[in-house]
Amino acid sequence: MRKIEIFDTTLRDGEQTAGVNLNTAEKIEIAKRLERLGVDVMEAGFPAASKGDLDAVKKVASIVKNSTVTALARSNRSDIDYAWEALKDSSEPRLHVFIATSPIHMTYKLKKTPDQVVEAAVGAVKYAKEKFPVVQWSAEDACRSDLVFLSRIVEKVIDAGATVINIPDTVGFTNPEEYGKIFRYLLNTVPNIEKAILSAHCHDDLGMAVANSLSAIENGANQIECTINGIGERAGNASLEEIAVALAIREDFYKVKTNLTLNEISRTSQLVSRLTGIAVPPNKAVVGKNAFAHESGIHQDGVLKEKSTYEIITPELVGVPSNQLVLGKHSGRHAFKDYLHKLGFHPEESKVNVLFEDFKQLADRKKEMTEEDIFALLIDHKIQP
Ligand code: KIV
Ligand code: ZN
Repeated sequence: MRKIEIFDTTLRDGEQTAGVNLNTAEKIEIAKRLERLGVDVMEAGFPAASKGDLDAVKKVASIVKNSTVTALARSNRSDIDYAWEALKDSSEPRLHVFIATSPIHMTYKLKKTPDQVVEAAVGAVKYAKEKFPVVQWSAEDACRSDLVFLSRIVEKVIDAGATVINIPDTVGFTNPEEYGKIFRYLLNTVPNIEKAILSAHCHDDLGMAVANSLSAIENGANQIECTINGIGERAGNASLEEIAVALAIREDFYKVKTNLTLNEISRTSQLVSRLTGIAVPPNKAVVGKNAFAHESGIHQDGVLKEKSTYEIITPELVGVPSNQLVLGKHSGRHAFKDYLHKLGFHPEESKVNVLFEDFKQLADRKKEMTEEDIFALLIDHKIQP
């Protein structure tokens, strides 16, 4: 089976989430977790951004042994030198260098012609290759770039020595079909493409980052860039946990494997949430508090009979101890009785009926039913364990 490299950028693009700032100790803690999770590559930061980030990347690179550590640089010598300073002692120094390729970015931000952008990109990759054994090159805003130009610049940077070509959807603008076509197009038009691997990097502005990443895999990408909990600039990046679990439980469809230890996902998600201060929404796929919670009577009854009726992912797969049957106004008698049994109460059927009626009346008035509510009902009805 084809192996997909997981490139985690929680410590770089993830840290670009508004309001997030990780110090060195926090970056190290997350990096160790990412290593246990089994990411192939982790982007530890942007050393040219600050002395603090340079030091943090350096520390992470000296500690992490089982994942490759990389760092970001713009296409200038100074950024590349900072990245080298941070990464030179790591086991396999790898640089991630980028330049924008879309007309909007080239005209307004870089104020360069397309030819000047090619020259800058090639110059940066050649300079980086003098030091770094592995150079990844990214075409910022690739999805709003002219494809003929994209193909030309990719060919040139591969000739200059880049062996990973990343196609970012920087502004979360594309959709799965269109994004997949870009990968097909590059595979069909860049003459030296077999010398590099293609990578996807998606942002979630239209809520399609994960779907776009999966489409890239179907269309020839061998590396996926993502973050824990999908944190990142604006609406965030593609969620590592969603991609990982989709690939695992739909292995029949995607026919690829990763190096990830999936039952580390929940712990990693909680750590990133705690250290970044970014709460995970309860309905977030895979890692949200409600991802394995069933509230309605029909669902609860189904799950009590056979979990696979409403659970496509087992909680244990991602390191969550068990599912949860949450009591509320939609809950059914089956789940209510099961809950009483778990609390150690086994009233006779007629009593269960009366309790259930009272429970429904209370649940109609309350947003959430708690264990205390159930105990209060049991006491009211003088039920003993
Ligand atoms: O979204 C983006 O384009 C980036 C690049 C720097 C790779 O994060
Ligand atoms: Zn990005």
